[in-house]
Amino acid sequence: MNRNPSTQATTHPAWRAALPYLLGGTLIAGALIAAGNARADGDAAKGEKMYAQNCQVCHQADAIGLPGFAPSLTNPEFLEMASDKFILSTVRDGRPGTGMPPFSHLGRSGVQDIVAFLRSHSDRPSRASQIDAQPEAHGDPRLGELWFAQICSTCHGVRGDGYAEGGTGTAIGTVGFLSKASDGFIRETIKVGRSNTRMLGFKGASGLANLTDREIDDIIVYLRSLKH
Ligand code: HEC
Ligand code: HEC
Repeated sequence: MNRNPSTQATTHPAWRAALPYLLGGTLIAGALIAAGNARADGDAAKGEKMYAQNCQVCHQADAIGLPGFAPSLTNPEFLEMASDKFILSTVRDGRPGTGMPPFSHLGRSGVQDIVAFLRSHSDRPSRASQIDAQPEAHGDPRLGELWFAQICSTCHGVRGDGYAEGGTGTAIGTVGFLSKASDGFIRETIKVGRSNTRMLGFKGASGLANLTDREIDDIIVYLRSLKH
């Protein structure tokens, strides 16, 4: 679409007549969006205090995580891939069957402040909307099961129950994770891993194993079939 008002105005005189009105509307809409963002962005200083009171006991200072106990929330890959929606809803609902309790009592704006604090640890731009818009995985769950058993289960547990099965990875076979994570989020996490954690990437020569795109999708389809 042509978004340049000057060229549109020359080709559409009626549009030109409406210009002051439309510009006014744009300004108001812009102000509303800015106000919405200011609220949505949260207050990192408040969030830091709330984090210390509610989250640090498990996720540790600076949210670096503790293997086998709670994941890192400040590694740059997590922060660039996880949408606010993913984090807000995970914190609100917790992850049933894991050590992550629900925090609905903190309210949306309280959790948004915590998210702002977490996000202050990375200046990489968010890739969440592109990642969440990636196509759904298609593949063979039987092949995915073989890969999962061979390379993922040592850390994530044979049933994908994570720490509950003695692993150092999170519970990626549970509904609490799978109902919130898009296929793109799972795919990109498998490909690039997460810095400063035990989750290394599985793509490329430096990966833990060099999985093809198809093999990664087989694993995602298998995980979706596990969902419990
Ligand atoms: C009692 C310990 C505990 C507390 C307190 C806790 N968490 Fe968690 N959290 C966990 C565990 C354990 C997991 C991983 C669950 C799993 O295996 O999937 C987790 C997972 C998460 C995830 C998902 C991370 C990912 O890699 O997908 C987010 C986001 C999160 N917690 C945020 C918070 C926030 C914010 C707070 C404070 C409001 C908090 N947690 C408090 C234990 C805790
Ligand atoms: C050496 C241990 C290890 C192996 C092997 C491993 N992971 Fe992980 N994985 C982790 C850890 C640890 C985390 C969470 C990072 C943290 O603790 O901060 C994680 C996180 C993830 C996440 C994000 C989950 C969330 O809660 O947000 C996905 C998805 C994932 N791993 C998929 C896989 C798949 C699929 C495989 C096999 C191809 C695999 N992992 C192999 C350790 C491992």
